Amino acid sequence: MSDATILLVDDEAAHLKTLEKLFAREGHDVLCASDGQQALDLLRANSVDLIITDVMMPEINGLELLQLARTLRPEVEVILMSAFGTVEIAVQGMKEGAYDFLTKPIKRAAILKASQKALERQALISENRALRAELAKVRAGDGGGTLIVGQSVALRSALDLSRQVASSDANVLITGESGTGKELFARLIVEHSERSDQPLVTVNCAALPESILESELFGYERGAFTGANQRKIGRFEAADGGTLFLDEIGDLPFSMQAKLLRVLQEGTFERLGSNTPVKVDVRVLAATHRDLEAAMREGEFREDLYYRLNVIHITAPPLRRRPEDVPLLAEHFLTRYAAKNGREISGVSPEALDALAGHSWPGNVRELENVIERAVVLDRDGLIHTDDLPAHIASAQPASEPRHILVPLGTPLEEIERMVITETLEMTGGNKKLAAKLLGIAARTIYRKL
Ligand SMILES: Nc1ncnc2c1ncn2[C@@H]1O[C@H](COP(=O)(O)OP(=O)(O)OP(=O)(O)O)[C@@H](O)[C@H]1O
Ligand SMILES: [Mg+2]
Repeated sequence: MSDATILLVDDEAAHLKTLEKLFAREGHDVLCASDGQQALDLLRANSVDLIITDVMMPEINGLELLQLARTLRPEVEVILMSAFGTVEIAVQGMKEGAYDFLTKPIKRAAILKASQKALERQALISENRALRAELAKVRAGDGGGTLIVGQSVALRSALDLSRQVASSDANVLITGESGTGKELFARLIVEHSERSDQPLVTVNCAALPESILESELFGYERGAFTGANQRKIGRFEAADGGTLFLDEIGDLPFSMQAKLLRVLQEGTFERLGSNTPVKVDVRVLAATHRDLEAAMREGEFREDLYYRLNVIHITAPPLRRRPEDVPLLAEHFLTRYAAKNGREISGVSPEALDALAGHSWPGNVRELENVIERAVVLDRDGLIHTDDLPAHIASAQPASEPRHILVPLGTPLEEIERMVITETLEMTGGNKKLAAKLLGIAARTIYRKL
């Protein structure tokens, strides 16, 4: 690919000159900077496709230049060069979005190849961006969109229930651990409801302090409190005719629970600083990762409110209960993040899939999504391998039950010894050396005992 603009940055003048000639001969426009500051100036004034920069430079070093460039011009690709080819710098640079990393002395063939690939990717991303902008318009137009991936029975039944209750006006409570997709279910319900073209207003009950939460929900009149210079419409009013999604409802302060209950019961409330009731037609969806029944027992959550909200209960199942969804979700996020990063990735290696399947996913789907996004960024060869996964997941062994033997008390020790040895041998697939290691005896002792 020729006629791209490449910005070369190196404080070593001779090296800069050599590279300049090399890329000019390839037909590229070449800009040269001998330090980071000059590079930034050039970057601001020119449309640059690729930056190839030295890492070790005074003032602004290559990693800092990388960060600055990503901020200024996110579409620009960056290749790092360093005489100190430490793995740490490479990893750091790749994490921060560098396309590649080369160690000095730089080989002509290597740098030409790396820059060509970087430029191809750059072109692809620009193209994708234009394409995505088009797609986004189409999606927004046809109203649909929320995609919930999974085949497990637990997920399917939650999905079926969501679709089924969508068209009614019943309040829905969605519970499940963090990252299981509660918000996604809420959006799906709204999209399938008759209110889909009406506003969906979301309030995160955990994010706001009590005093602000109240005025956010119900609004206020001018002069209701110092600083209330004009009337403000609350979220309930904003959602009139549509849906209000109360996220993290389990964190709603106790005193607010009574006020919320009243609106749910009567469909009216007053703005702060007013006595005039406001009537609204709002469907309420609520979600929480908390155990509300336990909170009720502790006296932290009002039972009457619970039953109001919990007309329909949808449970978003934790990922560890539906391991069969892991490969599907991994594939889904892989496609999404490969496209987002302009990478071509064909799939996940069987070993990496095993590692993913063996992990317990305390952060559920959100954790898996993050792991896949990271793997896409780190991947170098178009296939996700275990070394593209975080160490604690890569080393995870598929959970297997420890084996037991059951021995009646009073069994002679010799007999017990024989049973343990036989079972251990079985466990190791007949490998006597390994069995001896596990039992802490010499291999020949095994022969003798048997
Ligand atoms: N079944 C699924 N298919 C596709 N994406 C999913 C699925 N479940 C969750 N996700 C994605 O995982 C991320 C977390 O989901 P979401 O925010 O809905 O979780 P949550 O249950 O509301 O978590 P929290 O309790 O932390 O608020 C989002 O990016 C969401 O798009
Ligand atoms: Mg959420």
